Amino acid sequence: MTLCTVNKGGFILKVAIIGAGYVGTTTGVAFAYHGHTVTLVEKDVDKIAKLQQSQLPFYEEGLECLLKEQMEEQRLTITSHVADSIKNNDIIVIAVGTPSLPGGGANLAFVEEVAREISRSITNYTIIATKSTVPVGTGLHIKSVIQEELHRLQKSVKFDVVSIPEFLREGKALTDALYPDRIVIGHDSSQAKQKMKELYHSYDQPKLYTTLNDAEMIKYASNAFLATKISFVNELARLCEHTGANITEVAIGMGLDPRIGNQFLQAGIGYGGSCFPKDLQALIEIGSKNEIPLTILEAVTNVNQSQHIWFLEKVKQELGPLKGKRIALLGMSFKPGTDDIREAVSLKIIHHLLEQEALVSAFDPQSTNLVRSIYPQIDYKKSPLETVHNADAVLLVTEWDEIVNTDWEQVSQLVNRPLLFDGRNALSSHKMKALGFTYYGVGLTQ
Ligand code: UGA
Repeated sequence: MTLCTVNKGGFILKVAIIGAGYVGTTTGVAFAYHGHTVTLVEKDVDKIAKLQQSQLPFYEEGLECLLKEQMEEQRLTITSHVADSIKNNDIIVIAVGTPSLPGGGANLAFVEEVAREISRSITNYTIIATKSTVPVGTGLHIKSVIQEELHRLQKSVKFDVVSIPEFLREGKALTDALYPDRIVIGHDSSQAKQKMKELYHSYDQPKLYTTLNDAEMIKYASNAFLATKISFVNELARLCEHTGANITEVAIGMGLDPRIGNQFLQAGIGYGGSCFPKDLQALIEIGSKNEIPLTILEAVTNVNQSQHIWFLEKVKQELGPLKGKRIALLGMSFKPGTDDIREAVSLKIIHHLLEQEALVSAFDPQSTNLVRSIYPQIDYKKSPLETVHNADAVLLVTEWDEIVNTDWEQVSQLVNRPLLFDGRNALSSHKMKALGFTYYGVGLTQ
């Protein structure tokens, strides 16, 4: 794959990105691809060691190749020296983590630490851009943290804070970062707006210039709305089963209305990942702090937390007590295309099955080692066919191509009992039934 760069002869800015996680690394690679000179800064020694050899510390299709290319072209360098990398840049992007606090709110400790480091090290007018997902008001808070710190250090350096929320999806990170649907830029100065125009000048997508607070709220609101679509369709799926309707058809029919749209209406065993669960909790917490209870989002969360339990009830109804039953679990990452298992539904299911003393075998193309470190007692296999051997029930949890396109005829012969629970409605119920399976999906007519 040779992608090189799209920004020939345009503005070339010097950009430092603090935090080489999913968002930071992908953003850095994308800015380099768009022709800017990028320094990716990371403190974690393991991550740095891998990145310096052009290897990603996580799995994301296509990204490693572009990372390597941008490093070879010397548009992207990797360093662990935060202070040095802050000096002499046009833009510093904060892309560190904002994990959940015990109450659900976002922990801004890492963001604030970077803000203080920036105050100590900046030497000339710099834009400080937040990519991390942060509560409304954080941009203005960062501004005051830096101002106070500069004052304390008796330094006089001009700076602006902007908010550039990220909308990329794991598993599709490369495409989303190179060709985003939209670019949202929150700012409060014309100088900052001009610099951001230069940063994004080679992007053709629609750009919204707005306030810092609006940009921060757009990020949370977008994730909350997408999660709402999923929980809506998941709850409706439960009703469909009782009323003889088929959620897949219902979603298609709804999605034909452009006001509704056909995306994120795929019924299943619930959403996971590092974003939706965390961001919903954070938004609910902001609501409660402001005495505006976000009751819709509370319901969205409740439906999501109970969806796998509702699904496992079907398994229990068919199998009876799970003790000693052989369950084959197909797919463990929170979605296909990534090795990420944060808030993955598979973990909740494994926990439940082990509690019931079921015998679990499992397969995932990318996340086996991560799951093994949490649940060493499971029998991990290298292919779907190995996994289903002698199983009393097969549970499809993550719809990887390798799993959906496995030889289901062989599966039907290898299992102890042809009982199939498709947690993502990824298979054709007609085909599976024709192969002799007793097939259960989510919200489908039997
Ligand atoms: C999500 C958003 O989609 C991105 O726009 C956003 O940038 C990102 O969070 C973030 O805040 O960083 P991501 O968590 O990577 O992206 O993955 P999604 O594709 O949104 O999927 C999230 C979960 O929803 C997965 O578990 C997936 O299986 C589930 N899902 C998705 C459904 O159950 N049904 C659907 O129709 C779609």
